[in-house]
Amino acid sequence: MISLKNAAQVDKMRAAGRLLHDVLQRLREVIRPGESTGALDAFAEELIRRNGAVPSFLNYRGYPSSICASVDDEVVHGIPSERQILKEGSILSVDCGLILDGWHADSAFTVGIGTIAPELEKLIQVTQDCFFQGVRQAVAGVRIGDVGHAVQSLAEGYGYGVIRDLTGHGIGRSMHEDPSVPNFGDSGQGVRLKAGMTIAVEPMISLGSWQVKEMDDGWTIKTVDGSPCAHYEHTILVREDGLPEILTLPDHSWT
Ligand code: MF3
Ligand code: CO
Repeated sequence: MISLKNAAQVDKMRAAGRLLHDVLQRLREVIRPGESTGALDAFAEELIRRNGAVPSFLNYRGYPSSICASVDDEVVHGIPSERQILKEGSILSVDCGLILDGWHADSAFTVGIGTIAPELEKLIQVTQDCFFQGVRQAVAGVRIGDVGHAVQSLAEGYGYGVIRDLTGHGIGRSMHEDPSVPNFGDSGQGVRLKAGMTIAVEPMISLGSWQVKEMDDGWTIKTVDGSPCAHYEHTILVREDGLPEILTLPDHSWT
């Protein structure tokens, strides 16, 4: 079932989104070579709790941490560890979610650790571009397939792989609600968007194959061919017309 949010509920999701944005900004500032992903996780949990919110990933289906930290060919759901030290030249995807006053926000980004290869810079940039290209479509009356198609066309135009086994999702009182929001698809197909829907759009784009495998830890997802992968996600509000509102990117205008 797809839930539509009223103005008061959207206000609460805005507050959750704003807080998550702050948390991710603070995290960005401490990401550097030599830092452990476990330390990033502890920092995120502390910030979230200090602001009266709850980390939504922690204990979700037994997940052990407050962030996902996925390095290089890890696509998503990498488990942070004190023993995992970030190295110059790697790329790191940080995914984080929180619950404030009963309402969820979910957002992810990928950054380079120190100086990275130009092809990795480009992958990160194009993954963000794919997000905005998809989100630009997300206005009332348009279909979910139009969003996925926009993401897929841009990514595949660069010869990149679009991860298919994981998708975006509705979000609100729960982290994962209907509808599913794939990063591929056909224009004019799928659920029709309505004003008041809140969805997480989250392209995961690889330099090579779109196929993935799960590691023995039961969480970490990697590309099958070892290609590096980038991830970019925001929680957005679909509106009657114009562009959607990005709830986890509150201080920035975008076009
Ligand atoms: N943020 C992920 C998503 O976008 C969910 C993380 S799964 C968890 O759907 F187990 F880490 F919580
Ligand atoms: Co998500």
